[in-house]
Amino acid sequence: MSQATFRLNHAPATPAAAVCDCFARLFTALHRTSLYPADHPACRDAVAAVATELAEILDRDNTVAAAVVDDRLLLSGYPQGENEIRLPGGMRDLHRWSIEHLAFERGVMLKEIQALFGLLHRRPADGEDATTVLSREGVTHIKVGRLSTGGNAAVNETVGIRLYRQAVEEVAAIHRQVGEHRQVDLGQARHIVEAVIEDQQRGDQLQALTWLKSHDDYTYTHVLNVCILTVAQARTLGMKEARLNAIGVAALLHDTGKCFVPPELLRKPGKLTAAEFEVVKQHPALGAKLLRSLPHVDDLTVLVAYEHHMRFDGSGYPERAHPRTPNLASRLCTIADYYDALRTIRSYKKEITPDEALRIMSQGAGTVLDPVLFKHFVEMVGLYPRGCLVQLTDGRVAVVVATRTGFATLPMVRVVTDEDGALLSNPVEVDLAAGRADDQRLGIDRAIDPNTVEIAPEAYL
Ligand SMILES: [Fe+2]
Ligand SMILES: [Fe+2]
Repeated sequence: MSQATFRLNHAPATPAAAVCDCFARLFTALHRTSLYPADHPACRDAVAAVATELAEILDRDNTVAAAVVDDRLLLSGYPQGENEIRLPGGMRDLHRWSIEHLAFERGVMLKEIQALFGLLHRRPADGEDATTVLSREGVTHIKVGRLSTGGNAAVNETVGIRLYRQAVEEVAAIHRQVGEHRQVDLGQARHIVEAVIEDQQRGDQLQALTWLKSHDDYTYTHVLNVCILTVAQARTLGMKEARLNAIGVAALLHDTGKCFVPPELLRKPGKLTAAEFEVVKQHPALGAKLLRSLPHVDDLTVLVAYEHHMRFDGSGYPERAHPRTPNLASRLCTIADYYDALRTIRSYKKEITPDEALRIMSQGAGTVLDPVLFKHFVEMVGLYPRGCLVQLTDGRVAVVVATRTGFATLPMVRVVTDEDGALLSNPVEVDLAAGRADDQRLGIDRAIDPNTVEIAPEAYL
């Protein structure tokens, strides 16, 4: 990597706060888009917004530059105290590429920022360096480099995000195989489930990401989320590993029959017509039939694919002459399926928050959903699950970092803004349940749709 240094020759015209905001938004966008393919609309919109903002700053100043120091960015050319941006998650991406200095020059183009995002969303291959990659992609207005030959030692991967992204890629491969060849790579499915179980044994990075992926409506993330949430339920009910594996594979393959449904129906934004719904309703039976025809697929997988739209009271589809309660694994899968389906339903202006989803689901407890398992699910995910962005009763914004059974409304949070909404340079951890005795007033006012604020909750986990 080049040893270039970047200095501003004169006092910048843009106020420090505006440049800090712009960098903060850049790294928020970087995090928010890290799970999407580069051509996803969420990714394109986020990069375009950052590009516009940078262009405005670069109209006034030739260059904006910052040094990367531990978990902070220090803006070049601005007085100490005004020039610090602290974004733990963002720094990890820069550290991974050993980037210690980052500068944008007048004329920077959208495709150059896209190339930077593409670079920072992946890890370097052996011997790869950021300068070479960017110059190979024709990037001339973004400079990256080292401050010294020492480099940053610690490279803290956002383990959960990497793992989730990897799993989504594997799920996509399985679905392509099902769609094209009507085959399922069971080895790959088991591999994903093992990774999910291992993650839950290690401390559960993945579950927090199931809700955070709120803009993504791909079948792949849906079935992965349903797998994660079904295994989590089974595990917290005390099921042993062999059973968890079987339930996980079944949950991962529950929507296999969707390969028979025309994609335009699956992606249709509005309500389906009665005729269209009849087509969609066939996917459980068709999926079960396909899975039944494949070697080494166990009965539970076939059963869950068949039953996952059957209700606890025996109604739902496929319709049966003699209604019965679905199998336990199917009932767990239905809860996860319903929860994740609500994640992707968006009203005109706002998304459904996790607590709203549980309230909607609670109306179906006893009819659609097994009431006992649903109660257990609420205790497991909490009204405000890990990774949920919330407004506290004093106005500050916080990210839920841990939940505890029995304290559904009082999780452990990391406070990330002051009462006026300004980002804190040092987020403060507060256990709302522990503080209850001293301060009856502090609690959660509401969950916040993360798309309405410039905060990426995953950066604070
Ligand atoms: Fe389904
Ligand atoms: Fe589903």
